[in-house]
Parts: sequence; structure tokens; C-alpha cells
Amino acid sequence: MTLSNEGKKMILALQFVSGYGGEFRSWRLPGASADAYTNMDYQVSIAKKAEEGKFHMIFSADTPALTNDLSNQSPMHQMDPLVSFAAFARETNNIGLVSTVSTTHSYPYNTARTMKTLDVMSGGRIGWNAVSSSMGGVAENFGTRMLPRETRYDMAYEAIEAVQTLWGSFGEGAMVLNKKTGEYADMSKVSYANYNGEYFKTKGPLPIPASPQGQPPIFQAGGGEKGIEMAGKYASGVYANPYTIADAKMHRSALHESAERHGRSGEDIKMLAGFMFTIGDTEEEALERRRQIMDYAPEMETAQRVQYLGMMVNLRISINDININQPLPQELVRQTSPNMMDPRAERVMELIQKGLSVKDILAHGVINYHPVVAGTAVQVADFLEKWFTSGATDGFSIVPDSLHDGVEKFVEQVIPILQERGLFHKDYEGPTLRENMGVPYQYGVR
Ligand SMILES: Cc1cc2nc3c(=O)[nH]c(=O)nc-3n(C[C@H](O)[C@H](O)[C@H](O)COP(=O)(O)O)c2cc1C
Repeated sequence: MTLSNEGKKMILALQFVSGYGGEFRSWRLPGASADAYTNMDYQVSIAKKAEEGKFHMIFSADTPALTNDLSNQSPMHQMDPLVSFAAFARETNNIGLVSTVSTTHSYPYNTARTMKTLDVMSGGRIGWNAVSSSMGGVAENFGTRMLPRETRYDMAYEAIEAVQTLWGSFGEGAMVLNKKTGEYADMSKVSYANYNGEYFKTKGPLPIPASPQGQPPIFQAGGGEKGIEMAGKYASGVYANPYTIADAKMHRSALHESAERHGRSGEDIKMLAGFMFTIGDTEEEALERRRQIMDYAPEMETAQRVQYLGMMVNLRISINDININQPLPQELVRQTSPNMMDPRAERVMELIQKGLSVKDILAHGVINYHPVVAGTAVQVADFLEKWFTSGATDGFSIVPDSLHDGVEKFVEQVIPILQERGLFHKDYEGPTLRENMGVPYQYGVR
């Protein structure tokens, strides 16, 4: 399959994380807001900055559980992204707002109601990242146990169908609001959902009218086989985590094929690859900031990272045997080879060959969840251009190390470069998320 972005512009999402950024110790950086998690004025100011840069959307991942140790790290998610979005919706005009809601642990009626209310409130800018919640600790919060993947995906299909049926139950044009005749709504356009699945049943109707985009588009996250199949059927957007251009192309091709199996066009699904960055006036400045963030971590964690780094290049090393401020000794370098199981290993090999210190190799973000560029705005733009023009992805879900200045730097330094190179739009295409993403209008079940 040939994947091309000829004549297209990239789509950009800002991953909001918890309000602090992708590095969970960035809250300690000078200038960062230590209370970003609970400070809505601050969070709204970040959303507005992203809109100034013409970001297509803000994306909030979510897991309804405490998923990390907060003794010295910030949380991984917002307090409740949907509630925050009510504030963002009121304070912004064009930017899309995509939130994660579990298909396993939420009643479809609740999901349908909250998301459609937000979609109407925001003038058609909401999206639903429908995930089946595979993380441990979540199920217990809902009084159940983690279900097998097969069951979770069966439930996800039902949840999406039930929600979309509820959305479509209050037909387009049903709101009449005619003071003269006294007709409030045309009830011939309102129908029961009568959704009767194995896991979810809901009668409806849901008394909320269509938004300007009809209803929120569906997003899917992750690259598992079942996720890709589900995306082919329902998704307009996919948050992916490829580490190389080759991985990204494979994922994007699989999504196109899945869409076609479900009678849709591959172009109807926009893949957004995760990407993390730290911007400095020079590469050294960016690296220094990442070294500083690393220094906030307890020593035990650095020791674990060094050990992990070794495993990526088939080397057994311990922090006690090496000086992390020095390059690896030559006798160890000679023993390295890329661990074929890890797509990030080649990058580690490259940095070892360059003679970087172990600490600097780590500072380059080689063991982060997404590819990392620590460098200048031009280096960040070059990375995005290379992936985009090679047809690897429709766009990116970008994760700044720290939101407090990362969004501003991206908006003021990277976006103008992307625009000059003809890679990113100069203004919003329209007022709705669907228009800005270039995906078709939909109302009810397709
Ligand atoms: C970029 C990205 C974002 C994700 N966001 C979430 C999320 O917000 N909440 C969640 O429970 N899972 C999230 N996931 C995990 C996936 O939904 C999925 O559960 C995971 O890839 C495991 O797949 P499985 O459910 O098929 O086992 C995300 C995955 C990726 C790659």
C-alpha cells in the first residue's frame, strides 16, 4: 500500500497529560506551576495558547485510577478531563477537545449524555477516545475484576454502538423552538434507541440535539490487533505509538486496510503518532534541561534506567560499575548490539557510537514511550517534516516535557517553521473538529 501526504497538511494534537507535561518531574522546573493539576485558570491559559498555534485538538488520555507514585512525581492524568473540557469549551472557539472514556467501566447512557452535552456546548469540537481500560487497578475501582481482552473488546463494540444509537435518537431537526405555534420539539424525529446488547442495554431516547458536527468522532489508542480492527469500523482518529518511520507506516497501512474491510476509505482514519520534545536555543540547552529533570529522580530510578539502557543493547551494566557522566568504556562498546525486540535500540547504538556519556544518552529520551527530540525548534520541525513527508503518519500527538513553556515554545518557534514549509495549516478550516480533521459528518450509527 502506498501512503502519501502529497499536498496535505499535518494534523496536530497537544497531549495535555495532567497539566504539567510528559515528564512527571517537570513540575519542579523553575517557572513551572507546581499546582497545575488543580489550577483551572492555568490549564485554560495552556488551552488558549494551543489554540493560538492552531492546534487541531487537545487530547487527554485517562485511566480512572491512581497509576503512579505521587511521592515525587505528578499524576499521569487530569483530575477529570471531561469536567476540565467544560471550562476549556467556554474559553476557546476552534480547538478540538478529545477525551478518553472507558468502554468497560462507563454506562453508555452516561458517556453519551456527557459527551453530547459537551459537543453541543463547544459547538461541535468534542471527540471520544474509546478505550477498553487494560490497566490494572481500574477494574477494582468499579467493583469488578479485569476482564479478558476478548470480552473487553466485545464490550467496546457494544458501548460505541449503544452510544452512537443514543446520539442519533434525537433526530436532526427535532428541535423546533417555535414560540408562535408552541411546538418545542418535533417528536416524530425522536425515537427510542432500544439498544439490546449482551453487555449493555439502553432504551433512550437521549434528549440532546445534534451539534454542528452531528456527534463526536471516535478515536482509538494503541496498536493491538483488536484495537486496529475496532478503529477500522468506528474511528476517525487513532493515537499511535510507533517508534520508527517503518513502524508508523506499518500501523498506518493496517488502519487503512481495516477501514476498507469495514467499507470505509483509509483516508477516513487519521493516525497521530506520539512525539515528545524539549526545545532549547541550542541542543546543549535542551539536553541540560533534560539532565536537570533526570536529577530530580531518586538515585534508584537512575540505576534502573541505566540497567534498562544496557538491556536495549544486550549489555549487562550496573550504575555501580560505570561512570554515567562518561561515555561507555570501549571494551563495553565492543560488546553492544541492538536488542531486536526493542525498536528504540538502533537509536541507542547510534548515540553510543557518537561517544555520548551514558547520562546524555538517557537525556536524549531513548527509553521514553514515544520518540524524543531534545534540540532546537528547527530540529523538532525537521523530525516532524521527515516523518510526515515520508507518509508515515497523518499527524502527531505531541507531548512537551513541561507544558508551562513547552506549548509556548512549540507555538512560537516550531509552528511558524512548519507553516513556512507548507506542512501545517495557517488557520482553522472551520468551527468543528470534524471539519478541521477532514473527516465526514456523522449522526447516529453509520
Ligand atoms: C498513545 C496511546 C494512548 C493511550 N491512551 C490510553 C488511555 O488514555 N487510557 C487507557 O486506558 N489506555 C490507553 N492506551 C492503551 C490502549 O488503549 C490499549 O489498552 C493498549 O494499547 C493495550 O491494548 P489491549 O487493550 O488490546 O490489550 C493508550 C495507548 C496508546 C498507544
